[in-house]
Amino acid sequence: MIKKFGAKKPVFVLTTDNTTYVFSVTDSGHLEHLYYGPKTDIKSAGDCDVFREKREFELGNTIRYSKEYPNVILEDMCLEMSSLGHGDIREPFLEITRKDGSQSSDFLFSSYEINYTKDDFSMLPGSYSEDGKVEHLRISLTDRDVILELHYYIYPCYDVITRSSKLINRSDDDITVKRLLSLQIDIPFSGAGITSFHGAWAREMYKNTTSLTAGKFVIESRCGISSSRANPFFMVHSPSANEHSGYTYGFNLIYSGNHYSSVEVSPFGKTRIVSGIQPLGFSCILKKDSVFEAPEAVMTFSGAGFSKLSHNFHGFINDHIIRGKWKNKTRPVLLNSWEACYFNITENIIVALARKAKQLGIELFVVDDGWFGERNDDSHSLGDWDENRKKLPKGLKGLSDKLKSFDMKLGIWVEPEMVNTESRLYRLHPEWTMDIPGVLHSEGRNQRILDFTNPQVTKYITDKLTSLFSKADISYVKWDMNRIFSDIFSKYLPPEKQGETAHRYILGLYSVLKTLTERFHDILFEGCASGGNRFDLGMLCYFPQIWASDNTDAVSRTYIQEGYSYGYPLSCISNHVSSSPNHQTLRVTPLSTRFNISSFGILGYECNVHYLNAIHRKTVKDQIRIYKSLREVFQFGDFYRGRSGNVHEWICVSKDKKYAVAMLMQELVRPNFQSERLFPVGLDPNMTYRFHNLSGTIDIRIFGSLINAVAPIRIKQDSLAHRTLSKAIKLKSEKEEIKAKGSVLMSTGITLSPQFSGTGFNENTRVFPDFSSRLYFFEAEEN
Ligand code: DGJ
Repeated sequence: MIKKFGAKKPVFVLTTDNTTYVFSVTDSGHLEHLYYGPKTDIKSAGDCDVFREKREFELGNTIRYSKEYPNVILEDMCLEMSSLGHGDIREPFLEITRKDGSQSSDFLFSSYEINYTKDDFSMLPGSYSEDGKVEHLRISLTDRDVILELHYYIYPCYDVITRSSKLINRSDDDITVKRLLSLQIDIPFSGAGITSFHGAWAREMYKNTTSLTAGKFVIESRCGISSSRANPFFMVHSPSANEHSGYTYGFNLIYSGNHYSSVEVSPFGKTRIVSGIQPLGFSCILKKDSVFEAPEAVMTFSGAGFSKLSHNFHGFINDHIIRGKWKNKTRPVLLNSWEACYFNITENIIVALARKAKQLGIELFVVDDGWFGERNDDSHSLGDWDENRKKLPKGLKGLSDKLKSFDMKLGIWVEPEMVNTESRLYRLHPEWTMDIPGVLHSEGRNQRILDFTNPQVTKYITDKLTSLFSKADISYVKWDMNRIFSDIFSKYLPPEKQGETAHRYILGLYSVLKTLTERFHDILFEGCASGGNRFDLGMLCYFPQIWASDNTDAVSRTYIQEGYSYGYPLSCISNHVSSSPNHQTLRVTPLSTRFNISSFGILGYECNVHYLNAIHRKTVKDQIRIYKSLREVFQFGDFYRGRSGNVHEWICVSKDKKYAVAMLMQELVRPNFQSERLFPVGLDPNMTYRFHNLSGTIDIRIFGSLINAVAPIRIKQDSLAHRTLSKAIKLKSEKEEIKAKGSVLMSTGITLSPQFSGTGFNENTRVFPDFSSRLYFFEAEEN
């Protein structure tokens, strides 16, 4: 709900189910931020006096705003937006240069409007509501003939408020926009914790927490895309906040390009948070009557720690970001050819793999890189989106027909934003790439970026992909993007517009994605950029799921997937079971752990299924059966993080709380620690659950030469006798089986069977060497 109190100095109060956000207009016409936190009962402008900054005197060595308002010291006020000049020397929300070269601006309140329309962002994706109604507040501020609009949208049940801004030039002269951010919040304290997610290729979303009592902490991308270096999602929180308690603010940006967020502590102990398009390298000339729109930023507040904050974002993203046929719809289990074959794919190889996959319960076969042009390694053919007839003699159509004959769906990989110089497309259109003529171009993965600021290029790509996607029955498309930007330059744009290149690239990309995803609304699109190098809300407006990381190692994945889960729902996180030793880390992990980790989200496999032995084939078959039976819970249940570190503990609970599945994974064995408990959360305290695990068998080879301690004959480790014996002797693994009320199960943790610790073994022992894990199930009893 949005309310306005008072006439001359209006106060705006934005309320969601559990939060309140307040700002007001000062006598001087500035927008003063007053409060963001737990819901409070504000009934009049006077109720907000408690929040207002009191000042009787100028602060030493600061700038007072004007003679008329000597006590307005902008540097020490909490503001809804701030610009350069007039004394606020903190991070600005906006920077413009006027014709005379001056860079000061002073935007003062002029009008407001409250309605239920979601402002139409002409080129940027944004949040939306199915019924088209979102409560909206527009605030207009002016500085001479330049208008700044601040927009606020409310999503009450998820405690989400989104913000964006627009700059409109009504003056006769051009102005240069050097920055226009999307969000600014000033909080009257310092010392907050900041949790942000950083990394690199194969190491995305590693959580980093710091606390800030002075200076500035920056979360940014200069890669041209949102990047794995620093995801645009971050949290600011009370220093002691944890999963279930503490004040936590969460922020994200619906944007896929260079982004910039900072948290800055002022000399007077206030904290400023800003977020928006990266100003570095950006500038845009705004002509008379033209408009520049900043992307929408998303924020939420939880008074009950990170878990609630995550749930706010999860629900909001599932309901108000992801759109189309796949919104809130369970996704198929797939087999991807990449780690199975890399570039070595042919129709025969694919069909044989797909047949095997079908027997295991896999529903979709994804032909990854290598099916087109002369693509036998990564130096050729990006841009030439026609089948390689030596590999696929009957083309994609022939392949999809074959797969269809045994009820397997076909998906393909594309990387449409790129071109290799060794390609037909580059030879025909060297002017379509982003590089500076006559200057050395630094490439990444042997490829160049197509200039998506050029409408000829975006039209070509849209038409080419339209014909490609229409060629065969294609159910899924993996849209990859494998290099970061360098030498950012558009041969299409004039010199004075080069500062817009990186942003216009993203707008061009969005226009292509909009057309294609609307035209091919049945196709399930999966985003990818060398793994999770472009995992953001902008892409999720078009693609319902994103490949989280090229690192498929189960241990690394616990950190990567946990990282994503803070800000993104499991329904958009795509994970694959791959072979062991792992191709990125060479780590050896059990098949069960690879599955257990991958199943929290969108499950796929990415390995040569021919290499699975009979036992593994049965295991995979069982895994897929279990996953399918709980697919809704794994993809759309409420996800809770438990312990993280040497022990990782996750639980997904169905919306009706009748089912839950928990995962416990241990990285390294702690010798002689037999006891372990599982700490479930999110169950219904009043429901009675059957708690159990899947009791399987243990391969005796796990005990190595220790077998000789019990065997009547001497067995050489890894010998034929050892292998034969392992087939013949099946030891039972521990069985958990309890019936209890949710309140009891959640009270002090569920004791698990003791872990093997070198002093004995029987069928109640939990054999749990390094990297082991278990799934545990909760089923509510029917009343
Ligand atoms: C990078 C992706 O992240 C991988 O999954 C794979 O599709 C390769 N590109 C193919 O070149």
